[in-house]
Amino acid sequence: MNESSSMILFGATGDLAQRKLYPALHRLYKKRKKPFAMIGVARRPYNHETFREMIKNSVEAQGETCDQSFLDTCFYFSLDVQDTENYRGLKELAEKVDLDFGLYGNRIFYLALAPEFFGIVTNKLKESGLTKGNGWKRLVIEKPFGRDLESAEILNKEIRSSFEEDEIYRIDHYLGKDMIQNIQVIRFANPIFESIWNNHHIANVQITSSETLGVEERASYYDRTGALMDMVQNHMLQMVALTAMEPPSRMVTEDIRDEKVKVLRSIRPVDVSNVGDLIVRGQYGSGTLPNGLPAIAYREEENISRDSETDTYVAAKLFIDNFRWAGVPFYIRTGKRLKTKSTEIIIQFKEAPANPYFKTFTNMKPNLLVIHVQPYEGITLKLNAKNFAHPMDTLPIKMEFAHTDEFNTTSEAYERLISDCMRGDSTNFTRWDEVALSWHYVDGIKEALKKKNPPLAFYESGTMGPIAADDLLAKDGTIWWPLSQ
Ligand code: BG6
Repeated sequence: MNESSSMILFGATGDLAQRKLYPALHRLYKKRKKPFAMIGVARRPYNHETFREMIKNSVEAQGETCDQSFLDTCFYFSLDVQDTENYRGLKELAEKVDLDFGLYGNRIFYLALAPEFFGIVTNKLKESGLTKGNGWKRLVIEKPFGRDLESAEILNKEIRSSFEEDEIYRIDHYLGKDMIQNIQVIRFANPIFESIWNNHHIANVQITSSETLGVEERASYYDRTGALMDMVQNHMLQMVALTAMEPPSRMVTEDIRDEKVKVLRSIRPVDVSNVGDLIVRGQYGSGTLPNGLPAIAYREEENISRDSETDTYVAAKLFIDNFRWAGVPFYIRTGKRLKTKSTEIIIQFKEAPANPYFKTFTNMKPNLLVIHVQPYEGITLKLNAKNFAHPMDTLPIKMEFAHTDEFNTTSEAYERLISDCMRGDSTNFTRWDEVALSWHYVDGIKEALKKKNPPLAFYESGTMGPIAADDLLAKDGTIWWPLSQ
């Protein structure tokens, strides 16, 4: 398939475009050497020059020198997304750019916009004929995809009236991270792991995505959303699905997605009878930042109400009710203002039988396989070895693989995902049924919490979260294994 294309980017003056998309497009432009052009669309009355200046600044903010030839491929069109007339002008510009750059009418429409505009924009794109070029068309949309299953279904219906499912690329930027993409290879290309990747050998799985940042400038979005919808509904459940899925019959997009869907469908629903045992919701109080400075409580943050009940932390115990995973808890946790910025997937293997020989070894630890997603990227296998200083005990040792030792350039998630979209590979984007099943699970939790109304568990900023989250594991006789970063 021809990979030359234009990108028509809505939300071109927004935060995401400036922080992530322009640096990613610039790097891709330099690597791919494929005909490409971009039309930035937003309401501000910029012209091509002011737009290029903004792009240059955002690339240089990453410490890179911006290529003039890249800037020459960037154009700006000022548009009010509700105004039908305006789309004609955009179509004319798109057609001119197609011809000038030899892009065969291939178009990526990237909506870096609030979801309430998705339906309007896709509808107008169709009405104006922008989606009817000679080439292929693709739609890239950002989360949040709805606020619950019902709103997600409405949104999906709106989009689907202009784009087919296989033309829709729903971004979950975690799927663009190198070590997340590595999970399938680690599992399926290494028979030593795959043969023990089940409830006979695995005691539990722990998935953590911790952040040191607080709500920052996103109060109006975050306070209506919270960690359950902001992180669990998408990134956390995607990591669960990739860790737990069956090997697909072929390593092709739809087969991989089918296997993820089966996992999401097998997650035991949370309801009012079990919510207290499975879910912990927390909110950060004041405390200390990792740099030693004082941190204020969530309720003291600007534009957050003083009695906000929003969760900035969620820990959950999930069960995947299928043959492979029956009885194995998957513990997940995510939160803001925690002690470290780190994402890790830890597989805890069952312990060696406590026969008389091993009984004397007080230092023996369970084997752990740690997939370090970020900021450090790699794999660690934690083992026990003979301790020659104390012959009657073992010594915990580790075998490590550092991703950056092997590959000196790693790609940023957005760079990978945009490149996949240009190549027409939607494997690392979420299909509609994945989104729907994730909402189904999260809606169950929200409903149960509403009925049961358990108090929020407050935690001190700069710690690893509320005590109640430790209790969740302590009840099962285990702990959250310390993160490496
Ligand atoms: C986003 C959330 O999807 O992911 C943010 O909306 C969160 O609240 C971010 O901070 C975390 O991403 P990363 O890549 O920094 O772990």
